[in-house]
Amino acid sequence: ERPRVWVSQPLFDDIVGRLAEYFEVNATAAVTQHSPEAANAALREADGALVTLNDPIGAAQIAGAAKLRAIANVGVGYNNLDLPVLSAAGILASNTPDVLTETTADFGWALMMAAARRIGEAERWLREGHWQRWSFDSLLGGDVHGATLGILGMGRIGQAIARRANGFGMRTLYHNRSRLPETVERECAASYVGFDDLLGRADHLILVLPYSPQSHHLIDAAALARMQPHATLTNIARGGIIDEDALCDALEQGRLAAAGLDVYEGEPRLNPRLLQQRRVVLTPHIASGSLATRRAMVSLAVDNLIAALGYGPDAGRPPSPLNAGIRD
Ligand code: GLV
Ligand code: GLV
Repeated sequence: ERPRVWVSQPLFDDIVGRLAEYFEVNATAAVTQHSPEAANAALREADGALVTLNDPIGAAQIAGAAKLRAIANVGVGYNNLDLPVLSAAGILASNTPDVLTETTADFGWALMMAAARRIGEAERWLREGHWQRWSFDSLLGGDVHGATLGILGMGRIGQAIARRANGFGMRTLYHNRSRLPETVERECAASYVGFDDLLGRADHLILVLPYSPQSHHLIDAAALARMQPHATLTNIARGGIIDEDALCDALEQGRLAAAGLDVYEGEPRLNPRLLQQRRVVLTPHIASGSLATRRAMVSLAVDNLIAALGYGPDAGRPPSPLNAGIRD
């Protein structure tokens, strides 16, 4: 009997179809918020699963899933996976790094520039019919070129954002759990600074760090108080890194100029206060969402799942494992 795999969300049929060469595929037909019980029922029947960042996978979901050996996450962030629990159960987990790096960096820039130059606000104003005559001083924003860029989280995406800053003549500062090798710092033209220094010196701060208990509400009222009143804050990482009420307070009190947000603590629900902020650009978690990149992410996740279950050209060696040592 062929192994069985669960596909938690509709992805690209032509790419996911490759799974059928090896497996019986139980594919979810419509975008679904699976309850823990529903996910558990699907996983109990499965040898492997393809899941997205919208599918929490932990103890409740894998309980009694005796055959389950592989979880392939379609996404680079994997805070939806309880990795210690999966590792303890001998389940090989994987994610999709690298293929989304440049696309996500592009979007971070788009959002940061939209926030600085008030593009969302200007477009709403125009569509609402407010433009009666051109005026010299309407919708004035802050400059991006020549400013100081602050990058919090200097992984692959942070580095790709830094490389783009050269063309804008910016000074780039970064903070990361560990300092990068000097060769990488030089290639990115980025200087390491402490967390408080980064907050205090950045004209445009962008968040690109993983979400974890350590980064939960890292940008809280105290952190926001260190930022300059003309600064912008852009988040393409995970919503829970920002205390959204503290962000709204700072914006309302003129202690921060603008924000660009692609991710939210309770997404897809939004803090209603965010919707009231004029100077916030809001997008629905689409930073990696170019067609080519979303296809590449699914393709890599499919490769990971096939290999993790012991099939295909990379049998036993998935291209991007998260807990590679667990079967040794
Ligand atoms: C998207 O947020 C991802 O982690 O890939
Ligand atoms: C993860 O956030 C990365 O930079 O690839």
